[in-house]
Amino acid sequence: MAHHPNSAAARDVAYVVHPYTNLRAHESKGPLVITGGERIYVFDDDGNRYVEGLSGLWCAGLGFSEKRLVEAARRQLDTMPYMHTFAHRSTMPVIELAEKLVACAPADIAKVWFVNSGSEAIDSALKLIWYYQNARGRPEKKLVISRRRAYHGITLAGGHLTALPYARSGFDLPMAERFRQVTTPSWYRDGLPGESEEDFSTRLAAELDGLIEAEGADRVAAFFAEPVMGAGGVIPPPAGYFEKVQAVLAEHDVLFVADEVICGFGRTGNMWGSQTYGIRPDLVTCAKQLSSAYAPIAALMIADPVYQTIADRTDELGTFGMGYTYGGHPVAAAVALATLEIYESDGLIEHVRRIAPRFQERLAALGDDGLVGEARGVGLIGALEIVADKTTREPFPADAKMAARITEACLQEGLILRPLPGDVVGICPPLIIREDEIDDLFDRLRRGLARVHAALRTAA
Ligand SMILES: Cc1ncc(COP(=O)(O)O)c(C=O)c1O
Repeated sequence: MAHHPNSAAARDVAYVVHPYTNLRAHESKGPLVITGGERIYVFDDDGNRYVEGLSGLWCAGLGFSEKRLVEAARRQLDTMPYMHTFAHRSTMPVIELAEKLVACAPADIAKVWFVNSGSEAIDSALKLIWYYQNARGRPEKKLVISRRRAYHGITLAGGHLTALPYARSGFDLPMAERFRQVTTPSWYRDGLPGESEEDFSTRLAAELDGLIEAEGADRVAAFFAEPVMGAGGVIPPPAGYFEKVQAVLAEHDVLFVADEVICGFGRTGNMWGSQTYGIRPDLVTCAKQLSSAYAPIAALMIADPVYQTIADRTDELGTFGMGYTYGGHPVAAAVALATLEIYESDGLIEHVRRIAPRFQERLAALGDDGLVGEARGVGLIGALEIVADKTTREPFPADAKMAARITEACLQEGLILRPLPGDVVGICPPLIIREDEIDDLFDRLRRGLARVHAALRTAA
């Protein structure tokens, strides 16, 4: 595509390096420049209107025109634009936000550590876990376990937990010896013929138990899991999975880190995915919908026993030797606080519960499409797993890139979705979506699928 030399597209191609993008392909394809938004819709610089079917990156829960968040940011910028939280400093938004998070936390959470992104929250969790094990005199207990297809961010450490080849290739990852992976809890993909969902969960818990036994429980520190796996293909857990997994972890004194970066704040129909699935975590990471993405902020929430051990150790060492300049930025914290207040005052979780059946009904109906092997989801998150053969579940060859083709076709229909590993199309609209907007989203998705069917017929 040739761009006018002064166009936004040409200037983007000239200067911007894009994440998760084939940088050479970008030189000819160019960017989709988004210039505005209204509720669940965004507009490009040509005036086209799209349903943002992934809330940006699973994050803009309140959509793209929430003026109360703008006002919260403006007020804080006016009052006190910046102060850090190092060395006994604090600001009111940070205090109030921490208080609110602890009050609504999914488990016995006592304290909150603020950072700027989900990746930093995961990275902090890892460092804290190792610090904690050293502090309690268990320096050998350092291995951490995640699941294949997990997404836990892309810092050097988090990149070891994110078990997706595309986030490792070319970066010399993995390079550390402290990381292990177990099977993805995808009953559809990894269940054995005739195996019930419950039996699949039992088998996966036994696999985890076997791994911990083989490594030695005295060497295993923590297990990281998203309640619903997001970027790895939107995979809700099979029946009984977390109950069985937690029994194994408890037996071996292994910490549970719930990565609530996508699930947190109503996505699954409860405040936390942990509540939806009966998870009792020792540590919780959250980000994204914490501020509805209007400001970069994330948090690591810490259970009291872990905190107490860490605090004693800082007393011995003289300081807690880590911190980010912008961790607990007062403007981001003020925006997050306002976001949580809106979730409450607007009854957003009740709204999700009310509206989710319509979303899941329209999603499930796509299961009859010839390309869709499984239509799955919970609350306001869902996915279509694309297959070449619905009966055998055989996938298309990887180079067919069917999920990418479908999302491209949906874009032509004014719907933004995201292709995910495993030939999956992810759907995760803003939490504020109304019933008529759900219908608009799925009507466009149907038309996108029809475009791909038509192209396949033409090619045949
Ligand atoms: C479950 C999960 N954890 C961590 C992250 C990393 O968050 P960030 O992109 O803010 O660093 C993501 C991002 O999508 C995520 O989905």
